[in-house]
Amino acid sequence: MTAALQVRNATKIFGGQVALNQVSIEVQPGEVRALVGQNGCGKSTLIKILAGFHRPEPGTEAFVGGEPLPFEDAVASEALGLRFVHQDLGLVATMDAVDNMAIGQGYDTGRIKNIRWRRERAAAKEALAALGYDINTKVPVGLLGMSERTAVAIARAMSTRGTPPKMLILDEPTANLPGAEAQRLYKLVRRVADSGVAVLFVSHHFDEVFEMAESVTVLRDGNHIITRPVEGLTEEDLIELVVGRKLDEHVRNDEAVDHGAAVLEAKNITGARVSDLSFTVHAGEVVGVAGITGSGREEIAALVFGGHGRGGVVEIDGQALPPSRPDISIDRGVALVPAERHANASLMMQTLRENITIVDPGKHMSLGFMRRSNERADVQGWLDRLDVRPANGEFTMSQLSGGNQQKVIVARWLRQEPKLLILDEPTQGVDVGAKADIHRLVDEAAAQGAAVLVMSTDHEELVRVSDRVLIMRRGKLAEVLTGSALTNDAITAATIGRDQAAAS
Ligand SMILES: Nc1ncnc2c1ncn2[C@@H]1O[C@H](COP(=O)(O)OP(=O)(O)OP(=O)(O)O)[C@@H](O)[C@H]1O
Ligand SMILES: [Mg+2]
Repeated sequence: MTAALQVRNATKIFGGQVALNQVSIEVQPGEVRALVGQNGCGKSTLIKILAGFHRPEPGTEAFVGGEPLPFEDAVASEALGLRFVHQDLGLVATMDAVDNMAIGQGYDTGRIKNIRWRRERAAAKEALAALGYDINTKVPVGLLGMSERTAVAIARAMSTRGTPPKMLILDEPTANLPGAEAQRLYKLVRRVADSGVAVLFVSHHFDEVFEMAESVTVLRDGNHIITRPVEGLTEEDLIELVVGRKLDEHVRNDEAVDHGAAVLEAKNITGARVSDLSFTVHAGEVVGVAGITGSGREEIAALVFGGHGRGGVVEIDGQALPPSRPDISIDRGVALVPAERHANASLMMQTLRENITIVDPGKHMSLGFMRRSNERADVQGWLDRLDVRPANGEFTMSQLSGGNQQKVIVARWLRQEPKLLILDEPTQGVDVGAKADIHRLVDEAAAQGAAVLVMSTDHEELVRVSDRVLIMRRGKLAEVLTGSALTNDAITAATIGRDQAAAS
């Protein structure tokens, strides 16, 4: 059998730094292969080489269905049957699904080059329906939910465009997907593989590696560590292969702790999805929030922080916080690490230093002078604490891998020593090792007296960091889980709704 993809000695050096070192892999038609490894180990670099985006070092070879890949551009790679969904999906937020699906392949035109809109729209609808999605193809994709945007990106990748697809390559397709929606993606990937197309996907979620993949390739520091069948592998084994050592398990202290005074009091807050939500977070307490997309979970961070207008009252230390004034929220000690860092937080062309100090650029001003060396030491301290790689404050954000960018945003806000720390999907796209680091930092922030509010679709994460977890259903607070009732399965069941869970 001819391999769908064969890569030999893939090597890439960025400014003297080896990002990928002689990596060779082979994937067969219909095989689903997971590509895993820590942030910055070279996963996206390998994919971008195959996509013709990065030019690899001489000696690198790749074959698609036996034919040599020219490493020219996206068009050349697609012509051989490679199809990509990149880490940031590569959609244009202001264009609708039809326009996005036409990027790179053009529209279906009539005899006088008129675009056949109705036909285009129907084709887009059909491609999305084949993936199990019914999406409004007339709204800008920026207004769609994450899972819908992912579906648009995959539908675009799988369309025929001259050559039928031989291999679908997905870079962290579920990084932004809540559990139930990730399940839809698993089915979709299975469907693609059953049609004989090879699949290579990058993931930091090992449960989905075990669920979707037949085989797994581990990279570490740009090197190929192992490729093996998933069967017979335990999650612990995989973590050890990825990190190169065993992880010490930090588990949050379960004993009843006396928390301090109320820091955050939300009273009947109401937004587009959330209605009449009231809760309190005390100093030293970590409160998690779970809920499927549409439950209101995704709106809470902005409502509390004041990024959105809101009904009801938010109080910090007993003082009401005005709505729609994030600047005042920051002054009063509220910090927000938002979800979807690309859109909401990263200054891609600025340095890590600027990204970290942007909330408080004057911190090292003294007598009208900027104490540069103090600032640099401050930034360096944070880069080291979060183990950002490379830990160089003068690099730009765009030079960092996705997970390392997330760590920089977390550093930005921890540095503020906030009274209330709001984290929305704090470990999206973050590797197992860094995830443990971020969880430890959340513990530390709480131990130092911060009130912490964590919104997450990763239920294990909520169990790991929270003292109690609020369950949102249909815009309302439906349940609160705490103590021994706070388990992964309990959260999952509660977010779907116990009645529905019992019925199915
Ligand atoms: N455009 C670039 N310029 C310079 N260095 C880069 C560039 N892109 C990536 N790198 C470096 O190459 C290495 C590999 O990055 P890559 O994006 O492949 O990591 P990754 O495995 O995809 O990580 P993540 O899980 O965080 O997405 C990192 O050290 C990164 O900083
Ligand atoms: Mg990556």
